[in-house]
Amino acid sequence: MRAVLCKQWGPPESLVVENLPDLSAGPDEVVVSVKACGVAFPDVLTIQGKYQIKPAFPFSPGNEIAGIVSSVGSNITAFKPGDAVLGRGKTGGCAEEVIATPENLWPLPAGVDFTVAAGFGMNYATSYHALRDRGQLKAGETLMVLGASGGVGLAAVELGKMMGARVIACASTEEKLETCRRFGADEVINYETGNLRDAVKQLTGDKGVDVIYDPVGDRFADPAVRCMAWGGRYLVVGFAAGAIPKIPLNLALLKGCSIVGVWWGGLTKADPKRANAVFAELLAMVASGKIKPYISATYPLERTGDALKDLMTRKVQGKIVVVTGR
Ligand SMILES: NC(=O)c1ccc[n+]([C@@H]2O[C@H](COP(=O)([O-])OP(=O)(O)OC[C@H]3O[C@@H](n4cnc5c(N)ncnc54)[C@H](OP(=O)(O)O)[C@@H]3O)[C@@H](O)[C@H]2O)c1
Repeated sequence: MRAVLCKQWGPPESLVVENLPDLSAGPDEVVVSVKACGVAFPDVLTIQGKYQIKPAFPFSPGNEIAGIVSSVGSNITAFKPGDAVLGRGKTGGCAEEVIATPENLWPLPAGVDFTVAAGFGMNYATSYHALRDRGQLKAGETLMVLGASGGVGLAAVELGKMMGARVIACASTEEKLETCRRFGADEVINYETGNLRDAVKQLTGDKGVDVIYDPVGDRFADPAVRCMAWGGRYLVVGFAAGAIPKIPLNLALLKGCSIVGVWWGGLTKADPKRANAVFAELLAMVASGKIKPYISATYPLERTGDALKDLMTRKVQGKIVVVTGR
């Protein structure tokens, strides 16, 4: 089977594609023939050794897969060869095969294609967990999303609207802002060309925003915290712009606000039952069409490096997915 491999920390150009022996399942494992694998900013960080999790070399990037079960271990009863599935691999997903365990696999619902199945999980789960569990977002509150046309950002826009919030989307180009409008943003701000604080003041008066969803960090974070309403919640989701910002804590005091960390991967380890319940709820929403993940591009397996490069250079909207051609 072909696999994209990271053999040393480095940029996307340092990934290689190699032929490896086919995988075989241990007694409690499932081998999935991968059709599609979602990739995201954490993969960009992981291959450079900049992510909080550092896999052993060589590894394949990508964690969210959809495909067909090709073989199962002797103890597996929940799946059989030929089943269409989605889920998280134990081994990296940018490969023609992955090994998975049954608790991280779900049957593919009718009407959901492999690309969407591999492209919604992490973004929507992160944003749903963030807004509902960590941010306690309520209907009628104002939600501001930074990096709002990106993977987790666009999911937060769509889910925030579904939860009854007034959604203000922030992004760097008019085209990206138009995408945010399409996914439900009530108002938009170009935070590259405009002054964020002035724009928020114009939209909310002196009140500010109740919940801020921040997957961007760096120079965008400080002005955003200054836009918080009294009693607001600032959700720390990621640092796509580079630096981990240092926020003066007096701002939390002055605004009576909370600065709240969000880590979906951490929840899957700390409370797998809760994480699986969140995931199952979202999968049902995708299957019923209540949420409509935006897959803006697909890349063949050998162009995985280009996919990660596009994420690094702010070219991606919504989600991108690598397809194996299997
Ligand atoms: N906490 C969690 O559980 C969790 C889960 C998934 C992802 N994350 C983190 O969330 C962040 C976003 O992930 P994602 O997959 O949604 O990424 P993405 O699709 O690439 O979106 C990131 C957005 O950040 C903005 N951005 C600003 N400066 C940037 C820069 N220098 N380089 C790249 N993007 C920049 C871009 O929008 P504009 O051009 O409009 O500014 C882009 O749309 C990452 O830090 C990732 O590690 C966290």
